[in-house]
Amino acid sequence: MKNESCISADVERVLFSETQLHEIVERIAAEIERDYRDCTQPLLLVGILKGSFVFLSDLVRALHLPCRVDFMSVKSYNGTQSSGKPVIRLDLKEPIEGMHLLLVEDILDSGNTLSFLREILPQRGPASIKICTLLDKPDRRTRDIHADYVGAVIPDAFVVGYGLDYDEKYRNLPYVGVLKPSVYEHKE
Ligand code: IMP
Ligand code: MG
Repeated sequence: MKNESCISADVERVLFSETQLHEIVERIAAEIERDYRDCTQPLLLVGILKGSFVFLSDLVRALHLPCRVDFMSVKSYNGTQSSGKPVIRLDLKEPIEGMHLLLVEDILDSGNTLSFLREILPQRGPASIKICTLLDKPDRRTRDIHADYVGAVIPDAFVVGYGLDYDEKYRNLPYVGVLKPSVYEHKE
């Protein structure tokens, strides 16, 4: 049976099917290729854990450019609410001086996480810093930050799947769907 027809009972509606996600990834990879093709310094994709791991793994395989991969983890979320105070949980393994950094996120929401990283990472001397996000929820933005590569702009709803979680669940759904509010309404 095709995965797309196995919708979790906790998902209200599917926003992006596997096929649509594949098309989004291919489009973003082509944009990144076009922009970084002639760069001489190394391109480092920085996956912001945990949510970006599925998107990043598809993106690197669609990207026909030499690149390196590293990860950071920044904690700023409790349940469906951003706590507003990001803290580094996992840092990059190597120095990034002279490298082109592409921060890869699952979703840009309040903007707390990425504006924090945009603030601290320049001190390490990268050649450039850009942001790539699978999803963008601009309605909830509290920081002045935008992504250079956006898979799709979505309305203000809590979404799960394709790496995105609620309470560490649903990351393995192959599509992105809106979580039924009844799943979290009485827990926060
Ligand atoms: P921000 O710092 O508020 O922009 O939030 C960034 C992080 O919050 C994302 O990387 C996600 O991990 C998490 N997040 C925000 N909105 C959602 C959502 O709708 N579903 C799942 N995780 C979310
Ligand atoms: Mg995340």
